[in-house]
Amino acid sequence: MNILVLSRNPALYSTQSIVDAARRRGHYVRVIDHMYCDLVLDKGKLEVYYENERIEGYHAVIPRIGNAATSYGAAVVRQFELMGLFSTLNHEALLRARNKISSLQFLAAHGIGVPKTVISNNPYTIEDSIDLTGSMPMVIKLENGTHGIGVILADKKRSAEAIIETFQKMKQRVLLQEFIEEAKGADIRVLIVDDKITGIMQRQAKEGEFRSNLHRGGTSFVVRLSEEEAFAAKKAARLMGLKVCGVDMLRSKKGPLILEVNASPGLEGIETTTKIDIAGKIIQFCERNAVKT
Ligand SMILES: Nc1ncnc2c1ncn2[C@@H]1O[C@H](COP(=O)(O)OP(=O)(O)O)[C@@H](O)[C@H]1O
Ligand SMILES: [Mg+2]
Repeated sequence: MNILVLSRNPALYSTQSIVDAARRRGHYVRVIDHMYCDLVLDKGKLEVYYENERIEGYHAVIPRIGNAATSYGAAVVRQFELMGLFSTLNHEALLRARNKISSLQFLAAHGIGVPKTVISNNPYTIEDSIDLTGSMPMVIKLENGTHGIGVILADKKRSAEAIIETFQKMKQRVLLQEFIEEAKGADIRVLIVDDKITGIMQRQAKEGEFRSNLHRGGTSFVVRLSEEEAFAAKKAARLMGLKVCGVDMLRSKKGPLILEVNASPGLEGIETTTKIDIAGKIIQFCERNAVKT
């Protein structure tokens, strides 16, 4: 099989891991930068050009689309899908997952546990929005933040108001969220490939920090899921339409609460923590689905 990997940087661990797994399994694999793909459309004909070369002869595409490239990345993935390639990431699911508001609305509507969240656009009623969220402290999140950046813990109502006002002034939409204190700075990352749980790790925030992101200095270790947690993670991935994803959840008094479903989950943390060949599972997923010619 000929596999195309979309990635801005072939040297990244996740990209490397996928390339190695594909070669180990006897496939031809090439990495191209989605931001430099030209999309050509004409009646009944779609093509992709990369550095003046037409990209053809591929059976599957594995998109690794970072946060900064969501919009154009989705257009490139859509083009390959319409050209008949099997994609491990659906372009619509990517767009939905990248927005914290739309993903949480969607998950909550389908009965998935999420931290209680308030979204407001009214600068004149900030205090009421804070009251609607619940007691202090509370979490304030940027709509499109990532790696823990743009996730703030506000201790007092006054500071919460000031933070929200500042973001509104900067034309940044925010989510107000109840703080799940009993999670004690830990969250669980569940890696899903083709509706199956393939890797699980717990991440613990460093001392004095509540965000457990590895990018924020968190540490990780292997953990087991309860049946309820496994069910919630698989349901969230299925609802979001993401076949390869990282579901993040908090353990709370109310049961598992899903924070987000990542459409391009990093592989370094989960592969090194669990010693599981996740990239190999992604390649096997392509093998099962790609149309061979
Ligand atoms: N409501 C919350 N209560 C407690 N901890 C939270 C809450 N929301 C987020 N966190 C912590 O902050 C981290 C980052 O939040 P998240 O919503 O996943 O943003 P990002 O997309 O930047 O990773 C989470 O992994 C978790 O450890
Ligand atoms: Mg996160």
